This record gives sequence, C-alpha cells and structure tokens, in this order.
Amino acid sequence: MTDRRQFIQQAGLLAAAAATGSLMPSIARAQTAKLRVGMMLPYTGTYASLGTAITQGFNLAVEENGGMLGGRAIDFFTVDDESEPSKATDNANKLVQRDKVDLLVGTVHSGVVMAMVKVARDNGTLLIIPNAGANAATGGQCAPNIFRTSFSNWQPAHPMGKVMYERGHRKAVTLTWKYGAGEESIESFKEGFTKLGGSIVKEMYLPFPNVEFQPFITEIASLKPDAVFVFFAGGGAVKFTKDYAAAGLKDKIPLYGSGFLTDGTLEAQGASAQGLLTTLHYGDGIENAKNKLFRYNYGKKYGVQADVYAVQGYDAALLLHGGLNAVKGSFGDRKALYSAMEKVKIDSPRGPWTMSKAHNPIQDIYLRRVEGNANQVIGVAWKALEDPARGCKMSAA
Ligand code: BEZ
Repeated sequence: MTDRRQFIQQAGLLAAAAATGSLMPSIARAQTAKLRVGMMLPYTGTYASLGTAITQGFNLAVEENGGMLGGRAIDFFTVDDESEPSKATDNANKLVQRDKVDLLVGTVHSGVVMAMVKVARDNGTLLIIPNAGANAATGGQCAPNIFRTSFSNWQPAHPMGKVMYERGHRKAVTLTWKYGAGEESIESFKEGFTKLGGSIVKEMYLPFPNVEFQPFITEIASLKPDAVFVFFAGGGAVKFTKDYAAAGLKDKIPLYGSGFLTDGTLEAQGASAQGLLTTLHYGDGIENAKNKLFRYNYGKKYGVQADVYAVQGYDAALLLHGGLNAVKGSFGDRKALYSAMEKVKIDSPRGPWTMSKAHNPIQDIYLRRVEGNANQVIGVAWKALEDPARGCKMSAA
C-alpha cells in the first residue's frame, strides 16, 4: 500500500470513529457522558428510613446544582441492600460489573459496607460512604478511592464517656446489637468512660436487628447501674426508648447513647425520648445559615424534617461535586480527582469539617438534648474530633 493510500484509509477510519465517539479522547467523552452513580442503601428493614433520608439529601444537592454534579448529568443505579451483609458482595458487584457505575455511594450498615469496601478496593471503584461507621473502612482498610462523609463508629460514642463521667456517673451498663457498629460504639464509649475512672457493670448484646428488649430491661432494673449507654438506630431505637420508658426506668436510671438513638426518630418516639442526652456530629438546631437553609429546603421538598442521615447524603453529593469540579468533570486522572476530594471545602449543615488523611471527617461532636421534636445542641462535647484511624496505611492512588 502506498503511503498516500494508507493515509487516506487511516483518515477515513479516524473520521468514522470520531463520528461514533469511539476514538474520542477519554477525557472529552467522560465530560459529556452522564455520570453513572450506584446507590446501594437500605430501603427496607430497620434502617429503611435512614437509606431514604440519605438518598433525599443526595438528591437535594443534585437539584441545587442544576441536576448535575461537577458539570455532569447523572444516571442513578439503585439497589436495596436490606442491611443484609450476606447479599452485600453480590449487590455491589451488580453495580460495578453489570451496571458499570463510575462510583458507589453506600451504605448504612457497617457489615454491608465492609463488603462494599472490598469490592471497591478490588476494582479500584470510587466509594463514598454516607453513613456506615465501620472503623476499618477508614482504618485498616483505608484506600485512596474510599471516602466517608459521615463518622467512624469510634467518633460519636467516645465523647459520651467524658460527658457521663462529668455528670457524676461511675457505673454503667451497656446494651446494643451484636454487630460491627454496636460493638465498636460500645468499645469506644468504654475507652472514654473507663479512662477517667468509670466502670462497666455489664455489657449486653442482642442479635441485629432483634427488638426483644424486655429481658435486658428487666436485668438493667435489677443491676441498678448509675446510667445506661446504648447504640441503637432507626426502627430499633424507637422500640427501645418506648420499652425503656414503659418499664418505668426513664426517670430512675438515666439513658444515654450516641445520637442515632434519637435522630430521625423523634416523632415516633414521642414522650419516651424527651430530655434524652446524646452525642453526635449534627444537631437539628445548629445555629448556622447553611443549616437553616438546608432544613428549610429539605422540609419543603420532602415534607419531613431533615436529620443526620440527610446531612450525610447531602455532603456526599457535595464532596463529589467539589472534587469533580476541580478536575473539569473527568474521571480520567484518579490521582487528581482524589487529591481534589481530599481538599474540598464543604459548606455543610453540620458546620465546617475537613477530610482526615484517612478520608474520614474531622468534626465537632455536639452534646444534644431532645426538646419536643428536635435534638437541640446544648454544647460541644468534643471539638474537631479526628478518628484515630488505627491501622490505616494509605497507598498511592
Ligand atoms: C452502622 O451500621 O454503621 C450504623 C447504622 C446506623 C446508624 C449508625 C451506624
């Protein structure tokens, strides 16, 4: 073949390929194609309302940015993970392998998220965690492509040890579900409480998501500790505070928890939650302009009060938006994208927070008291608390 014929043939091929987009530079294609976002969250079961709030918070941020994130329109691929660890690997793989998502957003349950972490690490897929607190996700299993916009299980529980000790309690009973989030929350509370001189009379567990609390409440009544610390969330939290109050213990043995005990649950809990003190990285009445606007917009759009889960979903979308904006919407240079995500300044309803080196928020933990239908902030239990990120060795992107 002459050089000229070869040139004409190649030019023809290139023109055809450009017309179909198959040889368009990947960056140009990436910026025009829709962003494929895999949402893996619980929409059924005890954590269903948490999954819904995260989704709504995420969608509100998308809407506020003109239906886009980082200049890209979005195709959502959604899986109900049922907070079921045994189905988690298959569910995450469906999104990554079958639906070819650009990133995963999920989930609520610590056991389920650890399967997502493995899939994300194995495939190099970006994972943004909008709730699940499993310490290892930003600890021993930390990775350049794994980010969290919520908390580690260690974070909200640790300050409560100090709060309870300073309120004069010396002997505590703990109760939770026996799975990652429950066990890690208790461990963290215990660390904070016993370091100061408090002691744990008994640690009690029941399987997740069991809500047969009666035998435990009976035992608490007979042990007569100074106070009780629990980790429960969602439907289980509602049932627990109601059972505790119905047993007549609410005014006899003070009940404390990490803030999931009373977040997104107050309407259903009614009088059983009034006056309860909890620690969390969010409070309904946080006095900043962003929180007021967020709560107004969220209430107007969804007809319900915003909660911590909605904030975490909102911030997940803003993290992605900020990171993608810095790299002109492209997934082409992962190192640049992740480095931008590490630096994003999120105007969060919870107040300002920064991303730790392990990709977990460094944030204030508030002390809140339930007043009516709100978790009112009555103080800062711990300023700018950073998870210890035990075992995290961040490799290069
Ligand atoms: C968790 O499993 O990590 C979790 C679930 C609900 C609230 C907080 C943490």
